Amino acid sequence: MDIVAVLVTAFWAMLPAYVPNNAAVLTGGGPPIDGGRTWGGRRLLGDGKTWRGTVGGIAAGAVLALLLNAVRPTLDELIAVELPAAFPLAAVVALPTGALLGDILASFLKRRTGRERGAAFPGVDQLDFVVVSLALTAVAAPGWFGATFTLPVLATVLVITPLLHVSTNVIAYKLSLKSEPW
Ligand code: CTP
Ligand code: MG
Repeated sequence: MDIVAVLVTAFWAMLPAYVPNNAAVLTGGGPPIDGGRTWGGRRLLGDGKTWRGTVGGIAAGAVLALLLNAVRPTLDELIAVELPAAFPLAAVVALPTGALLGDILASFLKRRTGRERGAAFPGVDQLDFVVVSLALTAVAAPGWFGATFTLPVLATVLVITPLLHVSTNVIAYKLSLKSEPW
């Protein structure tokens, strides 16, 4: 695979994992997942992790994966680069679910380390969702995962994800959709 093919594969295959966090910002609100419960005097997860945001985020990522599957045959003929194989149903669900699970896990760790809602946790904020999304997809759809995420693709994902995450969050902040730029 040449570098363009690696970049296209990394971006295409990760899109259903990238969108949930941003969709959660738009659909979030209402009752928090932890129901206000605390542990050691601090919230379990905090008000930033809601049922609506989680369901909305997963739905948005899954719908996007199905859309990509639908346009894939046409696009594959139009462009010179070979696209990854269609997302199997297990990956359609695992990519966005893992992304938000990683985000929730990060909030759990933030609260345990005394960080208030919205506090930055450099490194964790940028990679939590990608690591858990990839891990869950590797378990749920091992065949597709192995064929798609070769070592160069995995390395590319780990480099481009923090860059994309930082830039989309700065844009969401400037548009007043998010209260912090991270
Ligand atoms: N959101 C949500 N449910 C989720 C994830 C996000 O409702 N599972 C919404 C919330 O409105 C949240 C916003 O998206 O405030 C931004 O997400 P994020 O930055 O992950 O949450 P924070 O509010 O910064 O809280 P935390 O410190 O726990 O990350
Ligand atoms: Mg935040």
